[in-house]
Amino acid sequence: MKVLILGVNGFIGHHLTNRILETTDWSVFGMDLGDDRLGKALHNPRFHFLEGDIAINREWIEYHIKKCDVVIPLVAIATPKLYVEDPIAVYNLDFEMNLEVVKKCVKYRKRIVFPSTSEVYGACPDAEFDEDESFLCVGPIRKERWIYSCCKQLLDRVIYAYGTRGYLDFTLFRPFNWIGPRLDSLDTAKEGSSRVVTQFIAELLMKRPITLVDGGRQKRCFTYVDDGIDALMRILENRGNRCRNEIINIGNPDNECSVRELALMMREIFAGHPDHVGDGSFSEIVEVSAEIYYGKGYQDIYTRRPKIEKARRLLDWQPRVGLRESLERTIYSFLEENTAAAREMGRHST
Ligand code: UGA
Repeated sequence: MKVLILGVNGFIGHHLTNRILETTDWSVFGMDLGDDRLGKALHNPRFHFLEGDIAINREWIEYHIKKCDVVIPLVAIATPKLYVEDPIAVYNLDFEMNLEVVKKCVKYRKRIVFPSTSEVYGACPDAEFDEDESFLCVGPIRKERWIYSCCKQLLDRVIYAYGTRGYLDFTLFRPFNWIGPRLDSLDTAKEGSSRVVTQFIAELLMKRPITLVDGGRQKRCFTYVDDGIDALMRILENRGNRCRNEIINIGNPDNECSVRELALMMREIFAGHPDHVGDGSFSEIVEVSAEIYYGKGYQDIYTRRPKIEKARRLLDWQPRVGLRESLERTIYSFLEENTAAAREMGRHST
């Protein structure tokens, strides 16, 4: 199988690429702005990489959609701070650029495996979000955070309509707070514009306070990336065509915790790491209002728990990695890479 991954150097993109190259005989054609997370994949003869931009390299993209068997467009802005800072950039990239890719898949009748998001459920009151039953609930227009959710929702609806009219073979998957090595770069976290787990790791490393937005009572179900990729691989394999035109949540409801609990657990794990046991002092935990932390355009989601019966049934899958282990693996990997980067800098400066 030939797989086209746009945004191949991103969090999901590079983990998926590694898994495909390690466990199948498929080829991956990938495009991204950079290649710093791709590591040894770059030397694999079944991996073909173009350093490029989805807004510029349109001919390359069209040619490869035509050439490949399945298309996975992972290019998107996916950090809430950016939704409120630059909603137009979110619309342009997450909606317009991706719509073009969807239309090309329709043109060439190619299967698309598209990343929807847990964010489409918004502030849905259901205890568990169901792909085919739950209402998708967002806030007022002045709360610009919802632009991401709306862009993704409209794309879901467009893809679904093409699919049900017989023009497109699709699977929509909805990741629920996937975490793991190389989630976001520590540099973005240093500026304060990263997702919560990377943000807290950066604060711990810099001994800056850990900030709980609105007291940290909001809950998320954190899903370890290896579990997420297991599910995604089964979607790509698509045994018995079972995932055709389906929407599938990929999350771990057992890993639910509040952001406050997350902060406490992460600090404990960090403090227990051999390199930091002797640090003496660690980040204090402080509370800040959402308006001060994100600005007026932000609104939070207080509970977000996936129903995963469908993933279990269609994919014969279930998540395995518990919350503490997911955080340990994530934190330790960031610490290792941070130490390696510091060593590398030392070598260059001597
Ligand atoms: C995320 C992002 O929108 C996307 O990555 C994705 O589509 C989706 O949800 C997902 O991963 O399932 P959210 O969970 O709100 O949204 O993103 P985070 O930035 O990781 O924030 C989680 C919670 O931590 C929020 O309630 C936020 O207010 C809080 N937070 C974040 C803090 O309390 N302190 C911080 O320093 C950062």
